[in-house]
Amino acid sequence: MTHPYIRNFSLADRVVLITGASSGIGAHLARLAARAGARVVLAARRLERLQQVAADIEWEHGQVLPVSLDVTNRASVEAAFDAAEAHFGVVDVVLNNAGIGNGQRPLDISEEDWRAMLATNLDGVWRVAQVAAQRMARSGRGGSIVNVASILGLRVATGYSHYCAAKAGVVQLTKSLALEFARYGIRVNAIAPGYFKTEMNEAFFEGDKGGDYIRNIVPMRRLGELQELEGPFLLLASEAGSFMTGSVLAVDGGHLVSSM
Ligand code: NAI
Repeated sequence: MTHPYIRNFSLADRVVLITGASSGIGAHLARLAARAGARVVLAARRLERLQQVAADIEWEHGQVLPVSLDVTNRASVEAAFDAAEAHFGVVDVVLNNAGIGNGQRPLDISEEDWRAMLATNLDGVWRVAQVAAQRMARSGRGGSIVNVASILGLRVATGYSHYCAAKAGVVQLTKSLALEFARYGIRVNAIAPGYFKTEMNEAFFEGDKGGDYIRNIVPMRRLGELQELEGPFLLLASEAGSFMTGSVLAVDGGHLVSSM
């Protein structure tokens, strides 16, 4: 029999919606959520890529619904939540994960590039959290919102001024919404990943420069493995984290405490 404490980490019968679920961290944690018993709504712009993740989950007998969603568009976000509700019921857990991450010299960032970064990485997180919370509050069931920030929301790196500003916004938004939504039984927390190789950054980390950077700067001298985000996500999403709100969990091999 499963120990009651371990049972607390279960997502059995929860409806979990994951944005940016077509690749990287989102796709990985979607598969995990299904294994933890959740009914999983995969949300991203590329429906054909979501079908591949959905097929993996179905193969393991998980329950899954792929929906098309663009976090920069309110109607699209509302439609994705409508589809989730019609299929599985009100969403209990959101992983607010969709994001973009191109490096750029600060002198070269155009108005359009700045806006695009903020539109996806900050406005999108706010929009999805608000739509989710409106529905969670209305249902009276509460819920858990897990925002994917970054260690670059807590410290800075060259070439990422627009990204750092957006992710710092996600950190503060997480804390503000935790304060505001506690009265509805909605917890809001964030994960701040260090460096994990995904489509967003694989070209850099596969090169010598990326490898040297990780070995020289990160105390644990390696990239993270996607499995290493599983525990933090389950903690924040499930009953195991029932007294946690407004927290920002760094999962970074010690990168934030690197020597100065
Ligand atoms: P990824 O590029 O594999 O995944 C990002 C996902 O977001 C993709 O599925 C993409 O299609 C989706 N997306 C982008 N714009 C969207 C939009 N407007 N609407 C809906 N979906 C959209 O990269 P990764 O690494 O899995 O990124 C996931 C999150 O993790 C991002 O928020 C990123 O900033 C964050 N992160 C990643 C780190 C890393 O080292 N990989 C480090 C720190 C944070």
